[in-house]
Amino acid sequence: MQAKTTRDSRRNPVRLALFAAALALGAPAMADDDDDNRRAPMSPAYVEECGACHVAFPPELLSRRSWNAVVDGLAEHFGTDASLDAQALATVRDYLDAYAGRRSTDGANGKPLLRITDTRWFQREHRAGEHGLRADTFKRAEVGSAANCGACHRGAADGSYAEREIRVPAPGVRANITAQGRTQ
Ligand code: HEC
Ligand code: HEC
Repeated sequence: MQAKTTRDSRRNPVRLALFAAALALGAPAMADDDDDNRRAPMSPAYVEECGACHVAFPPELLSRRSWNAVVDGLAEHFGTDASLDAQALATVRDYLDAYAGRRSTDGANGKPLLRITDTRWFQREHRAGEHGLRADTFKRAEVGSAANCGACHRGAADGSYAEREIRVPAPGVRANITAQGRTQ
């Protein structure tokens, strides 16, 4: 994920410059106005095992029960086989266990949800009509899926979801920098 971001930035120096400027402007005001200090440290082992196909999702956004269900089902993981050897599996499970969130992420049927994006918290936080999000935003080509956190959260690969790093790729909203810098 990180390598891809770097490549994209190189291909598009204008966007990089604008992004850097935005960061510089945003930084002082926002310095202590995000949740980062409550976030789990990204473990290199977790990122290696669970950050290859998508960003390594923040462990506190699912409950322990949900993470266990995800880890138990890796052989059939959202249409792909993400199984790990016993040692890697134990490392990942320990990490997720240690940093899982306290909020229940069970579905209406009482079963643990396997997706952060299916949780009530996520859907409330990402409601259409707020913060430049529209009904079709998650389906846009640049996003593709709500699980593609990095499409909007520029720091997602590093486990950062700070507000100043959010750029929603849609025209006419606060994501202008991204939308204009992008070669469509
Ligand atoms: C071989 C590729 C691959 C690997 C490795 C992988 N995943 Fe996934 N994962 C996927 C795919 C594909 C999806 C579905 C993405 C989508 O809906 O856009 C997914 C989705 C998820 C979701 C749900 C995202 C959401 O909220 O919608 C979670 C949670 C998840 N993975 C956790 C993990 C964990 C934990 C690991 C490491 C043990 C892992 N994944 C490793 C391919 C992978
Ligand atoms: C289409 C763009 C988009 C995608 C994709 C997306 N988000 Fe967000 N996210 C947002 C916006 C916009 C907000 C609201 C920011 C605000 O409150 O000002 C937000 C808020 C958040 C917040 C709260 C940040 C804060 O400090 O208030 C977290 C945490 C978060 N998202 C995590 C995720 C995760 C994890 C994923 C992937 C599973 C994801 N998001 C996918 C756009 C997106």
